[in-house]
Amino acid sequence: MTDAKYLQLQGISKHFGAFTALDKVDLAIRRGEFVCFLGPSGCGKTTLLRIIAGLESQSTGSILQGGRDISVLPPADRDYGIMFQSYALFPNLSVSENVAYGLVNRKQPRAQIAARVEELLRLVGLPGSGAKFPAQMSGGQQQRVALARALATSPGLLLLDEPLSALDAIVRVHLRNEIRSLQRQLGVTTIMVTHDQEEALSVADRIVVMNHGVIEQVGTPMQVYREPASAFVANFVGKVNRLRAVAEGDHWYRVGDKRLRCLPDADPGCNAGREVSLYLRPEDRVVDGLREDDPLRCAGRVRSVEFHGANCMAEVDVDGIPDQSMQLQFSLNQMDEFNVHEGGMVHFALRADRLRVFPTAVA
Ligand SMILES: Nc1ncnc2c1ncn2[C@@H]1O[C@H](COP(=O)(O)OP(=O)(O)OP(=O)(O)O)[C@@H](O)[C@H]1O
Ligand SMILES: [Mg+2]
Repeated sequence: MTDAKYLQLQGISKHFGAFTALDKVDLAIRRGEFVCFLGPSGCGKTTLLRIIAGLESQSTGSILQGGRDISVLPPADRDYGIMFQSYALFPNLSVSENVAYGLVNRKQPRAQIAARVEELLRLVGLPGSGAKFPAQMSGGQQQRVALARALATSPGLLLLDEPLSALDAIVRVHLRNEIRSLQRQLGVTTIMVTHDQEEALSVADRIVVMNHGVIEQVGTPMQVYREPASAFVANFVGKVNRLRAVAEGDHWYRVGDKRLRCLPDADPGCNAGREVSLYLRPEDRVVDGLREDDPLRCAGRVRSVEFHGANCMAEVDVDGIPDQSMQLQFSLNQMDEFNVHEGGMVHFALRADRLRVFPTAVA
């Protein structure tokens, strides 16, 4: 076993009757890595996590952790701590008793348990809270307790199933950063399930993007965002413009009366005449230092502007690209500088180097 393959999933499938929830999933997770399972509701994230935990049995496939085949081991014989979305604390037990739960089961001496519990509460920012009961704590505090409980036995693997989704936005961001720094500090290999792409992009070393029971892409947040492996990933992670285009060969594409050449790496190489979708992020346009002779220079009328704080999203009808408007992002300062406003004209150039090409499915 190498550290590069601390957790190995091989050919994991799961059928519920005739329904396939997971279809031959292969994945290797490095020791100490923070991995997010990201995907829409029902794509199989929780099912995969529960199979790793032994709370659900896979229909086919095997799991190795630290070189040990754990495929058929009961949960108690596996080496992980787990934390769920919410309400997972025992309401009739104090915070200390909740955190100590896994330790008591291991029959450790009482004083040793008490010391460990206090150490864990300190670790999650709740020193001295042991005597409280869950109902006396906020949602965020309860999740800290749940985190302390999951870490109590110093497991090799930390499994988190949407641990933050029941919390309000500010607490959620705060706690996700704490979980991330705690994870770094402890070096515990972690899998967090989330359907929140921003959460995954901000905390993960690598993101596993799932859809309909299969893995669409595994990559760093930057890879998943900049180099989506499929149209699904491009759509699911971040905002993106999809432009209907026709291939002209040699990586050239025609959109309306514009001709764009993609970087070969971003292009599967479509035969001339093929209908494709070009994907371009709203920020992948040039406005500063725009040249008059830039062949990708465009003019467009701003149909509407959505205010998001530091950035705004303008929906623009681009001259020469009929029947498909584009979302373009401008910083608030650029809005002023280039006088971007509803009903007005904007000038920009498309960043062809950022285009991604996916063939349009033939109906
Ligand atoms: N015990 C079960 N019996 C039948 N179908 C199930 C069972 N558990 C899960 N499924 C189905 O398997 C699919 C995947 O479910 P899963 O809970 O893994 O999704 P998820 O990605 O975690 O979604 P969410 O983001 O909503 O939590 C869903 O279509 C679900 O209905
Ligand atoms: Mg789930």
